[in-house]
Amino acid sequence: MNEITLRSPATSANVGPGYDIFAMALKDPYDDVKLILTDTGKIEITITGESQNIPLNVEDNTAGLAILELFKRKNISQGVKVEIIKKMPSGGGLGTTGASASAAIFGLNRLLDLHLSSNEMIDIARMGEVASGGSPHADNVAASILGGFVLVKSYNPIDVLKLNLPEFPVVLSAIRKSLRTTRGFITYEIGQEKLKEQMARCARVIHAIHTSDIEEFGSAINVDHIAEPVRSAAIPEYAAVKKNALEAGAFGCTVSGGGSSVIAFCSKEKQEEIAQIFEKGFAPNPHYVKTIRTFSSNQGVHEI
Ligand code: HSE
Repeated sequence: MNEITLRSPATSANVGPGYDIFAMALKDPYDDVKLILTDTGKIEITITGESQNIPLNVEDNTAGLAILELFKRKNISQGVKVEIIKKMPSGGGLGTTGASASAAIFGLNRLLDLHLSSNEMIDIARMGEVASGGSPHADNVAASILGGFVLVKSYNPIDVLKLNLPEFPVVLSAIRKSLRTTRGFITYEIGQEKLKEQMARCARVIHAIHTSDIEEFGSAINVDHIAEPVRSAAIPEYAAVKKNALEAGAFGCTVSGGGSSVIAFCSKEKQEEIAQIFEKGFAPNPHYVKTIRTFSSNQGVHEI
């Protein structure tokens, strides 16, 4: 086998209080990635679909950087063509950079028969994230590779737990961020009271998943004292839209990953109403792309 095509899902990282340690996979949107082994000895990257200024230079591309890391760690010298078939809007907190890096490592693990464990794949793929946000956070790539809800139990060494999610409705407004990354503005100096609430909410999220309680899950993710204050500051419509969505019956609403996309969880009956609140509320934002009605998903990157 010298080529493989993969589908890699969008992921929403942080999931409220779990900055850098929680993420979940979505059914839609996704990117497809085709990998072809070649005898050129080079890594070549192409993008079809809307290229959205994604760098093609290997060192600046998340998939390229992840492949370089794999080849360095395993002492591999191999030509490979990476064709990213772009279906999702990039630059907005949908985990698209992680999706490409994950697909590249997952696919090469198969093509080169490397027998990497999931944790090894995650540890290598996360190095690709340095090309986008400057930091090797593991949450998005873990959810892309494993699907479902992921908890990064340890960063040193990387150890990730996957929890299966019931399939529940998700509303997602894709909004591009205006800064490449806002990670530098995030502080852990949040004070005792907020820290206690943050820890309690992380525990609530895990308990809600164990008991398949989506209402409790939504309520638990609804407050975050670490990432949400920084990322929501860049979305003028955020507070009003979140309030309207919750009043209309959404279980919870938060900023998706690094922003500026916004995600809400709700019942099937409420999904259309919440989506319309998002569409109307975020339309004036110059970086707004579109609103997606989707579902949580237990499927990670897979061959198509
Ligand atoms: N945990 C990362 C962050 C996810 O919040 O920066 C980026 O998508």
